[in-house]
Amino acid sequence: MLTSIAGRACIVTGGAAGIGKGIARVFAAHGARVMVADRNGDDAGATVEAIRAAGGTAEAAACDVSDWDQVRAMVEATARTFGGVDILCANAGIYPQTKMVDMDPAEWDRVLAVNLKGTFLCVKACLPWFEAAGRGRVVVTSSITGPVTGFPGWTHYGASKAGQLGFLRTAAMELARYNTTINAVQPGNIATEGLSDLGDDYLATMAASIPLKRLGAVEDIANTALFFASDEAGYITGQALVVDGGQIL
Ligand code: NAI
Repeated sequence: MLTSIAGRACIVTGGAAGIGKGIARVFAAHGARVMVADRNGDDAGATVEAIRAAGGTAEAAACDVSDWDQVRAMVEATARTFGGVDILCANAGIYPQTKMVDMDPAEWDRVLAVNLKGTFLCVKACLPWFEAAGRGRVVVTSSITGPVTGFPGWTHYGASKAGQLGFLRTAAMELARYNTTINAVQPGNIATEGLSDLGDDYLATMAASIPLKRLGAVEDIANTALFFASDEAGYITGQALVVDGGQIL
């Protein structure tokens, strides 16, 4: 059992739903104190209630990760509440599906702003706290779409998710001086609120095409993030791990 995140102060962006909610619940179950940061403050509050009902420690913060002032305020609130920041799960992301021919350039900008710039802003805001603690962990939720595969309608999304991996390789070198690691999980198709918007046909086709014959569960991703966040993973940095039931094989 990985016990080393007990007591650690952890931020989960996009923690109000889907994979982020799964990460928040699994990390809290392992004793981390969790800031559920989400643009949807009401749903973040509901996630916090669920964590507390299960005996965990959590707080909620309304935060749009693409806005530097909001990110800074959220990270400072976390440090005030928990006495520092030890772990960042940069998970918040959006995936509107629009073919390039129909795509408004503003939609491209929004996807890049949330998924890629938002990752950079959250890591940057946590740096002083990792330095103060003499250690830190960052786990980014990337994707197979972009770094490994393509999918029509997701040119912006694929660019943002591949961009996250480019970012993290150099970030790993810069973060090393703070004894801080940064790694990414690359989920395949995970059953979440966001994915269900893509429709039953999409979900059924995807499930049938996966060697393990099911969509992933949020816990499949949360448990991988848990490993990257643990002390036991302390010599792994700048890496990305595909968790997809064999989909890309
Ligand atoms: P979801 O739509 O179920 O949940 C995303 C959460 O992020 C929501 O609570 C939403 O309010 C929040 N959020 C969105 N924009 C935000 C912003 N600007 N600031 C703060 N919070 C924001 O999505 P899901 O499926 O859980 O995805 C989470 C991450 O996993 C994303 O980065 C996504 O790209 C990635 N991913 C998901 C896959 C899947 O199959 N569900 C596959 C591969 C990657």
